Amino acid sequence: MKKTILITGGAGFIGSHVVRLFVNLYPDYMVVNLDNLTYAGNLENLKDVEPRPNYRFVKADITDQETIQQLFRDFDFDGVIHLAAESHVDRSITNPMAFMHTNVIGTANLLNAARENWKDRFTDRMFYHISTDEVYGSLENGGFFTEETAYDPRSPYSASKAGSDHLVRAYFNTYGLPVLLSNCSNNYGPNQFPEKLIPLAINNILHKKPIPVYGQGENIRDWLFVEDHAAAINVIFHKGKPGETYNIGGNNEWKNIDLIRLLCRIMDRKLDRVQGESEKLITFVKDRSGHDLRYAIDAAKLKKDLGWEPSLTFEQGIEKTVDWYLENREWLQHVLTGDYEKYYERQYVKR
Ligand code: NAD
Ligand code: TYD
Repeated sequence: MKKTILITGGAGFIGSHVVRLFVNLYPDYMVVNLDNLTYAGNLENLKDVEPRPNYRFVKADITDQETIQQLFRDFDFDGVIHLAAESHVDRSITNPMAFMHTNVIGTANLLNAARENWKDRFTDRMFYHISTDEVYGSLENGGFFTEETAYDPRSPYSASKAGSDHLVRAYFNTYGLPVLLSNCSNNYGPNQFPEKLIPLAINNILHKKPIPVYGQGENIRDWLFVEDHAAAINVIFHKGKPGETYNIGGNNEWKNIDLIRLLCRIMDRKLDRVQGESEKLITFVKDRSGHDLRYAIDAAKLKKDLGWEPSLTFEQGIEKTVDWYLENREWLQHVLTGDYEKYYERQYVKR
């Protein structure tokens, strides 16, 4: 094998698309997927990848020092693509400590294992940390996030991601560890856990359940198809300049309420329902605490330096996404059990 790559969080939403892309594109890379399978980790996402000879799954916790050190010794990784994280803002509001533990301590633990095991052999190694645009805060007065925007995280999730980003840069500055960072906008697509807005709305429309809209639905997000994020990660991992940060975005802003109405129209058409039927499911619920108003990314640096831009329009991406959930109802059914249902009841307090 030419390279051995550690991908953390590969059983999750974005991680599974990154694992699939790397396993398929690089038969001469050994791809090691490390994931401790929290509620968000689902190996069903990787059923097609499982039998491939250049793929290995390891169930482990990124906060477990001994195991992580041992894995670095066993595999002598050439590169790390670090996606494992607690990723849902609402959960970070109810249980912030899990976010500090995994996102901050877990990242520190991986950085330390890389530093100790790659000691004096940094050439041709890379620690690539995947982060979010939410570290930049909320755009209340227009404009876009650039790589120079000062950090201003406002939720326990984004603060914990900001902490991990700072640690990654500290290891670059202090130890010379070769690192890359990218901060991406909201992803959507197949295999997303239906606690996030788009799969949650699709699932609820499908089952004629209320679609919870926080506050007035005025908040704005920039949406990127998950396979385009995976493609950007591939480009950055191979061509990015050590120590650099790249913003990744879809140039595709939607107000939540407009996005939900669009989903209702698409689903009515695909399910042969009367147009307007699903919109009746829209239910305004209590707003999220500290709800960031708007995120929007300026991804010009990534386009200029590395030539990446989204391959799909939003119209294409959202059609593909709805089709995938309709064709994979078993996948949806399997994740909609147990803890998720209990969490769901706790989360949605009607206004
Ligand atoms: P996800 O919640 O779907 O998946 C996270 C994965 O990490 C799961 O498989 C989970 O089992 C694993 N994991 C969690 N804690 C772990 C631990 N302690 N040890 C090992 N594995 C652990 O998340 P996602 O949406 O795929 O996001 C992946 C990464 O991308 C995260 O770092 C997130 O901050 C970042 N990101 C996400 C978005 C988005 O819109 N989803 C946008 C930008 C950046
Ligand atoms: P989400 O998918 O949780 O992503 P993030 O908070 O990381 O941007 O939420 C996207 C937007 O949709 C956000 O403004 C919160 C809102 N939202 C709802 O209105 N209802 C919901 O049920 C969920 C999960 C989110």
